[in-house]
Parts: sequence; structure tokens; C-alpha cells
Amino acid sequence: MRAGERVALVIFLSQGLQVTETGRSFLPHEAIKNGFRLALNEAADTLGATAPNPSVGCALLDCKGKILAVGAHPKAGAPHAEIVALEKARQAGLYDRIYAALVTLEPCAHYGRTPPCAEKLRESPAQEIWIGVRDPNPQAAGGGKLLSQGAFPKKVFFLEELQVEDADWNSLFQDCRALALPFLTRVEKKRPWVTVKQALTLQGSMIPSQGQTTFTTLASLKQAHRLRRSVDAIITGIGTVLADYPSFTVRHEEDHVGRRPRLLIVMDRHGLVPRKWKAERERDHFIVQSCSALKEAEELMNKAGVNWAMIEAGPALLKSVEEEHFWDEWWIIQQQASGNSDQSIVKMRDGNLRNESPLEFSLRHMRKDY
Ligand SMILES: NC(=O)c1ccc[n+]([C@@H]2O[C@H](COP(=O)([O-])OP(=O)(O)OC[C@H]3O[C@@H](n4cnc5c(N)ncnc54)[C@H](OP(=O)(O)O)[C@@H]3O)[C@@H](O)[C@H]2O)c1
Repeated sequence: MRAGERVALVIFLSQGLQVTETGRSFLPHEAIKNGFRLALNEAADTLGATAPNPSVGCALLDCKGKILAVGAHPKAGAPHAEIVALEKARQAGLYDRIYAALVTLEPCAHYGRTPPCAEKLRESPAQEIWIGVRDPNPQAAGGGKLLSQGAFPKKVFFLEELQVEDADWNSLFQDCRALALPFLTRVEKKRPWVTVKQALTLQGSMIPSQGQTTFTTLASLKQAHRLRRSVDAIITGIGTVLADYPSFTVRHEEDHVGRRPRLLIVMDRHGLVPRKWKAERERDHFIVQSCSALKEAEELMNKAGVNWAMIEAGPALLKSVEEEHFWDEWWIIQQQASGNSDQSIVKMRDGNLRNESPLEFSLRHMRKDY
């Protein structure tokens, strides 16, 4: 295959074969789809724990499509998803049976804190490598190419290049994109992915009744905590800090164990952050910083390697956020007359990313045991 050439993939659905210039797959479609779903599920749990690295999942299959091992990259500095899965297969005595590796993001090809995953996959018995999303990181990309070259080339399949109208394949690719999008945004746009969370009363107000700090249902509250768990930074306004004395901790889900401190940015132009509140948040494992402009907050997050940030603030800051287009997805949780459930709406600033919302992906993969 010539460098840079896009692989033309044709799927013969009737025969269940995938053919590329690098070879053909004989695995049943359902096995590949199932493997990707397991890899995505495993990786979803790591959102908020891996920055500046991406959340990635990997599933290993035997030649009949049976799952041998599933792994995810738990945090920066720890082994990557492919290595976790390969090691699990080895420990279970299944290493020699590996026929295919399905990875949500292209395996890296560079020596960083860990050796390149592409190299480890090349050494493995895997014949087919299925990749969800290409890695745009110039320092790490090229794993797919590396694997399809050399003395013992692997068959490499990119989900995004499957030329087929099939809702399942499309939604798997979109889920791989949604999982990687916070990381992809940081690498490609040099800024984090930003999600705004805005709760509205039945009357459309953001302000809770006196004596309350929230008014949404418990189900919405759990989802909001799921979002907090998935992000690397929270941005709020001084108005909210002074009105609500918020803790911003993750309480309705178990937070990541041993994660590095989350960044908590307070938009505050007059130095009004209460010392006691700041000290308490630092005790809660936050790095608290004040900023007087959104651009300053962005620079701070870039320096800290933040992939995904959320904004939890009142109407004054949200007005600035809207005016300065400082957001990627906007989540509105609106109270309903029945009071049993809220209406949840997610708007994407870039309409092309409609089905690739990291927020919706994360909420779909919420753990059921909370
Ligand atoms: N329903 C919800 O989703 C929700 C969420 C959070 C809070 N709330 C409620 O919102 C209320 C507080 O709202 P609020 O509007 O007073 O406070 P806020 O929006 O949380 O904070 C406002 C402050 O943010 C700073 N700010 C705004 N734009 C900025 C910019 N472009 N650059 C730098 N700083 C900027 C300003 O600080 P300076 O004054 O220093 O200029 C401003 O006073 C509370 O009642 C709280 O319960 C509701």
C-alpha cells in the first residue's frame, strides 16, 4: 500500500467478508461489532482519568470471533489499552489464540512513557487489526501504517473507511469518535472539549428557590455527577461560588481512584474567592485557580493537559460563554410539570458532530450499580 493512500474497503455483506488492499477478514461481523462494544464500554469508565492521554479500549478475539480479553488505558503513565489486553490474554493462557485486535483509537507508533503499542501488536499473533479512529497526534500516529508494513504485515482495517451503509458500523465509529473527541480536540484544536451544563426550572430560570442549590430530579443529578467524573476540569463563576458554596465533588458515582487532582477554575475578576472555600476544595483534591478571562482559562487548561472541561455556572458567566463561543456542547436539563423526570437536550456547536457527543456517550455508559 502506498503511503498516505486511503484504503478502499468494500464490504460484501452477503458473504460476511471485508476486503481491503491489506487483505480480507473472515471474522463474523457480529463478533467484530461485539468486540468493539466491549472495548468502548471498558474505556468509557476511564473518561476523566487518562488526560493528557486519551481514553482507549481494546478487545482481542480468536479466529472464530470469541472474546479473549478486553482492556482499557487506566491513566497517563500506565500501560496502554492494547498492552493491558495483551497482558490479560497472556495471564489467562490465551495469548497464542489471539487472531484479531480491535482498538478504539489507532495504536501509537512512538516511544513515549511506554513503548509503542503498534510494536507490541506486531510481535503478537494478531493477524487482523481493527482501528476505530485515526490518531492525529503527530508524535504518536502511524501505528496502522507500521502494522501493515514489514516482513510480517498485518491486515489493518479502519472503521472510518468502511464504505458501507450500515447503522451498526456507523454508530460504532461515532462512539469511537465520541470517546476520543476530547483528546482529539486538544491535539487538533489546541484546546479542550468544553461541555456546558445548564439546569432550568419549569419557568426557564437557572436560579433555584431560596434555600436550595438544585431543583432537578435525582436521575439528572446522577447524570451531572457522571459528567463531573468524566472531565478533567470544572469552570464556574464567582457568583455561583458565593451563592451556593458548591463542593463540585463527584458524589452520586464513585470517582476515579487515585486520579490526579481535577482543575477547578473560578471566573472572578475581583479576587473574591473565599479562602475557606478554596482550602476546602483543595482538601477535596482540586487545584483551584482564578481567572479573569476565558482565554486565560483556556491557556491554563492547555498547560495542564486537560482533554475535557465542563462549565457549571450561573447566567452571567454562561452569557459570556455563549458570546465568546467558548463551548462545544451545551446540555440543558429542564424541569417538567410532572416532576418525575426532566427534559434533557444536548446541542452541538458544530452540527457535523451531532452523533459524536462525548457527553451522551458517557451518560450511555453510566454504571448501573449506583
Ligand atoms: N441552573 C444552573 O444550571 C446553575 C448552575 C450554576 C449556578 N446557578 C445559579 O446561578 C446563580 C449565580 O449566577 P451568577 O450569574 O450570579 O454567577 P456566575 O455566572 O456563576 O458568575 C458570574 C461571574 O463570573 C464572572 N464572569 C462572567 N463572565 C466573565 C468573563 N467573560 N470573564 C471573566 N469573568 C467572568 C464575573 O465575575 P466578576 O464579577 O469578578 O467580573 C461574574 O460576576 C446562583 O443562584 C446559582 O445557584 C445555576
